[in-house]
Amino acid sequence: MLTKAELLATPVEHIDVAKHNVVPLIEAMRNMAFTARDLARAADITDRMIRDPDCGIILCLAGSLISAGLKKIFADAIRCNMVDAIVSTGANIVDQDFFEALGFRHYVGPERVRSGMDDAALRDLHIDRIYDTLIDEDELRACDDATRQIADELEPRPYSSREFIRAMGAYLEQHGCKTPDSIVFEAYKNDVPIFCPAFSDCSAGFGLVAHQHARGDGPKMSLDSAKDFLELTQLKIHNPTTGLFMIGGGVPKNFAQDVVVAADVLGHEAPMHKYAVQVTVADVRDGALSGSTLKEASSWGKVDLAYEQMVYSEATLAVPLLFGYAYHKGGWKNRPARRWSRVLEPADVA
Ligand SMILES: NC(=O)c1ccc[n+]([C@@H]2O[C@H](COP(=O)([O-])OP(=O)(O)OC[C@H]3O[C@@H](n4cnc5c(N)ncnc54)[C@H](O)[C@@H]3O)[C@@H](O)[C@H]2O)c1
Repeated sequence: MLTKAELLATPVEHIDVAKHNVVPLIEAMRNMAFTARDLARAADITDRMIRDPDCGIILCLAGSLISAGLKKIFADAIRCNMVDAIVSTGANIVDQDFFEALGFRHYVGPERVRSGMDDAALRDLHIDRIYDTLIDEDELRACDDATRQIADELEPRPYSSREFIRAMGAYLEQHGCKTPDSIVFEAYKNDVPIFCPAFSDCSAGFGLVAHQHARGDGPKMSLDSAKDFLELTQLKIHNPTTGLFMIGGGVPKNFAQDVVVAADVLGHEAPMHKYAVQVTVADVRDGALSGSTLKEASSWGKVDLAYEQMVYSEATLAVPLLFGYAYHKGGWKNRPARRWSRVLEPADVA
């Protein structure tokens, strides 16, 4: 068995789509078949939603995307005004992005760790495994503790996850962001709200548990997930034409789709999401949300049928192609920043 230092020697590198012009490749896929043709159509829809002057774009993230090398794509998408709000699992935002912003890295595991036969030895070394990727558990504990410190410093009251993640951005501004590409920090600087509807189900959960336990019966901060839903719905009402770019499925997919119905509940006739692209490996057989088609979402009144496309692919393959296409097509160049955080916190505007 290798030592801890040997196992954690090769960091995962984040792909830079600016360096790879994939436009001719995607154009060539358009008249192929199967997933290649679906992907080319998804690329067209993505480019179209970016160029639609009325469209606000919501990026949905599930799965282990940041640890897998996709972080720079999303940080660049924020910088290039290709994204106006993010709905994510907590793992992507806290355990992975904020973790790297604190100066830690994910590591390329040797081929043999995939088999699982080394997992007991990894446990002894305090190394966590995500399939072929390794993490120093001690560093993850430091990430948990940073979220506890942030909770300790907040005024005790209920917060949306969006408010808490903004406080994480402020923490990075104060203590220094140790990576050039952090989603949390770029979103903070560019007023892009990030929502994690199941926020306790990640590294932040450990920090929040520690905060609440230490405070006992005294005043403490807490999470208000209904506030998250209300805030994202307010954005839909504020900007009725919307597009979804979804990677994986899970809670972020349903949460973002549901704001159409929530707006209706609040008495606003918000249209269905005009554009929707989903990249997923899940399929329809189990009837679960993650693999349900966007056409099915239309039956629920959530997604319009004209511009929707499922891409059945693992994200590390399809996402660089889709964002690379949008980046090199340049439709974002004249796209203004929506700065939706300011819509939710007008008092914040200097
Ligand atoms: N993923 C992790 O390593 C991790 C770590 C800590 C906490 N969590 C928490 O667990 C909960 C579930 O999150 P999750 O990340 O496991 O997502 P999930 O299980 O909810 O994923 C939903 C769907 O996305 C699809 N998907 C996931 N990764 C994909 C990929 N690379 N390419 C294509 N499709 C993909 C899956 O097939 C699945 O159907 C969240 O609350 C999260 O914060 C996850």
